[in-house]
Amino acid sequence: MNTNAFETYESVVRSYCRHFPKVFTEATGAVIKDEDGQEYIDFFCGAGAVNYGHNNPYIKQKLVEYLSTDGIIHALDMYTVPKREFIETLEEKIIKPRGLDYKIQFCGPTGTNAVEAAIKLARKNTGRSNIFAFMGCFHGMTLGALSLTSEMYARNGAGASLNDVTHIPAPYMFEGLDVIEYMQTLIDDDHSAVSKPAAVIMETLQAEGGIRPFTDEFLRDVREFCDRNGILMIVDDIQVGCCRCGTFFSFERAGIKPDMVVMSKSIGGMGMPLAIVLLKEELDKWKPGEHNGTFRGNQLSFIAGKASFEWLLKNDVEAETRRKGEIVREFLTKEVISLDSRLELRGMGLIWGIDFGKINPELSEQIIEKCFEQNLICECAGRNGAVLKIMPPLVIDDELLMKGLEIIAAATKEALA
Ligand SMILES: Cc1ncc(COP(=O)(O)O)c(C=O)c1O
Repeated sequence: MNTNAFETYESVVRSYCRHFPKVFTEATGAVIKDEDGQEYIDFFCGAGAVNYGHNNPYIKQKLVEYLSTDGIIHALDMYTVPKREFIETLEEKIIKPRGLDYKIQFCGPTGTNAVEAAIKLARKNTGRSNIFAFMGCFHGMTLGALSLTSEMYARNGAGASLNDVTHIPAPYMFEGLDVIEYMQTLIDDDHSAVSKPAAVIMETLQAEGGIRPFTDEFLRDVREFCDRNGILMIVDDIQVGCCRCGTFFSFERAGIKPDMVVMSKSIGGMGMPLAIVLLKEELDKWKPGEHNGTFRGNQLSFIAGKASFEWLLKNDVEAETRRKGEIVREFLTKEVISLDSRLELRGMGLIWGIDFGKINPELSEQIIEKCFEQNLICECAGRNGAVLKIMPPLVIDDELLMKGLEIIAAATKEALA
């Protein structure tokens, strides 16, 4: 294995490669291959960017067909056929059938850029600068998004002050704390030192924060709090949208309609870069070009994204994700959580976390190393990295899913012994 080029010339900022120090070559479905021909089960899924599987054959075929026609690849935000078809399919097959009504803003191709756009637009609409975000959240690494992200390690890298955000304790943090009442007090109390926010931004399930689902009731309560106070609700569905939680949008389970939704990762179909903001029409107060960027129109991402919508609907991916999620829940409850009463299992759909924090946060890192030795790729999340995160591509078949889970169970037993 030759890693000289990386070690000599690539910045030390590189990170995932430190946990998975192999040189990868190919990937299909839920399997990744390295240069030496070893195969790995993927329970990491490009941090949610390849929900529909590596090289999903239907999506790949559409990309190959498009490339073979000399179709335009780069067009900034000019009108193109792939963009028209992406918009039409997203609106007609995904957004409207769910009783939602959004315009689409195309951003620079990363999730963090969509977050930047959403908070700028919230500030523009309300004339307020403050934003409420929850402790434990992750919203990206550019300055605006980083001001929301709560992880200190990431924030310390900013080298600048990160302002205009108030971090609210997540509902799981302090037993007995009524978080809605707390937020209401912050904005009502003339001695709270906190100004009324333009928006509340939230993941419905904090992913990097340690697989922390918020309850349906809490999501509805935040919606109601926002309505009551004239505050915008932004849902960050970058990681847990695109069917990950068992419905296309993660917030569908609560029956709420956020004012804005930010999406990236799997919205590009097959790991192609794309990021969007879905926004209620009345919020569309931008001036032309006011949020700009050269790569707001990757045609291959539009092709792959549109193909992914067709494919997920044809293959009932939402229901399949929920079914496979039950397999994960049942297996881990029986084979892993039963090992120690201090272990906690959280998740839904095909995003799950085993929390080792009450035993020893370092265990999760030891276990992912053992898993990698057994050719399973999975990652840590949460406070002190104490949560082992399980996030396979949604296309994974039951047999491979079980094989991966068995590797985790064996590695956990060994680590706890
Ligand atoms: C919930 C959430 N928001 C925003 C981002 C930032 O996306 P990107 O890494 O594409 O900038 C991520 C990335 O992991 C994420 O999980």
